[in-house]
Amino acid sequence: MAKLSIKDLHVLVGNKKILNGINLEINDGEVHALLAPNGHGKSTLLAVLMGNPNYIVEKGEVLFNGVDLLKLSVDERAKAGLFLAMQYPMTIPGVSVSDFLKSAINAKSEKPISLYKFIKTLEEACQDVNLPLDMVHRPVNEGFSGGEKKRNEILQMLVLKPSLALLDEIDSGLDVDAIKIVASAVNKLRENPLFSAILVSHYARLFQLITPTHVHIIINGEIIANGDFSLIEKIDKNGYDWIKAEYGVDINKKVLPVSLENCGVKR
Ligand SMILES: Nc1ncnc2c1ncn2[C@@H]1O[C@H](COP(=O)(O)OP(=O)(O)OP(=O)(O)O)[C@@H](O)[C@H]1O
Ligand SMILES: [Mg+2]
Repeated sequence: MAKLSIKDLHVLVGNKKILNGINLEINDGEVHALLAPNGHGKSTLLAVLMGNPNYIVEKGEVLFNGVDLLKLSVDERAKAGLFLAMQYPMTIPGVSVSDFLKSAINAKSEKPISLYKFIKTLEEACQDVNLPLDMVHRPVNEGFSGGEKKRNEILQMLVLKPSLALLDEIDSGLDVDAIKIVASAVNKLRENPLFSAILVSHYARLFQLITPTHVHIIINGEIIANGDFSLIEKIDKNGYDWIKAEYGVDINKKVLPVSLENCGVKR
C-alpha cells in the first residue's frame, strides 16, 4: 500500500475548476518534484492535501496510510504526519514561534514535552536553519524578512518531523547560502527512510540540492508527464514551450472576457 494515494482528484475554488483529475502515489523515502508554470495548480494540490477549507473537492479519493485523508480535519492530518510549508507563510500576531511550536509538538504527542527537551530541540533546529535563537520569542512571521519566513517554515518542519512534508516553493526569496541551508535541513530529514516529500519549485537549483526520486509536470491541473531529473533539466533549458508539441496540451489557458460592469467588456 502506498503511503499517499491520490486518485482522480478534481478541485474547485469558488466556481473555478483548478485540479482536473490528479493521480499520484508516494511511498516511504520518496521525494516527488512538482513543476508547472504559474497558476496551474501546484499550491492548490498541496492546500487540498493539508485541508484548506477554501478548496472544494468535487470528485476523487486521497488515502494516507490507508485512511481517507479528505475526511480528516487539518489538525488530524497534522497528527497523522502531514506538514505544509506554505508558499506565502502567514503571520500570527501575538503568538511567539516558541509557544506555537510547543503547542504543535504537544498536540502531536501523548504527554507534554519537557522544557529541557523542547529547548534542546529548538536550539538544534535554529542552528540547522541558521536562525538566531532569540527569534523564537517573536510573534510568528511578524516583521520577518522573506528569507526568514521560509527558514521559519523549515524550522517548524525540523521540530515536528513529519512523515510527509509538502514543501511549496521553500526556495523563493532565499539568498544562495540560505538555499543550501534549507536544502541540507530537508536532506537531514531524508536520512529517515520513512520520510517523504512533495517538493514544489520553479528552479533546477533546488532540485540539484534535494534530488527528487520522481518528477511530475502539472498543466491545467493535470499531471501530464512523469519522469526523472532529465525533465527538470529540459524545463530549465527550454521553459514549457515544448509541452504542446510533445504532449498536445495547450499551456495557455483560455482567458475569459472581463466584465467591467456597466462600462463595457474588455477582451
Ligand atoms: N479564490 C480564488 N478564486 C479564483 N481563482 C483562484 C482562487 N484561488 C486560486 N485561484 C486560481 O487558481 C489557479 C491555481 O493557483 P495555484 O496557487 O494552485 O497555482 P500555482 O501552480 O501554485 O502557481 P505559482 O507557481 O504561481 O505559485 C490560479 O489561476 C489562481 O488564480
Ligand atoms: Mg504556488
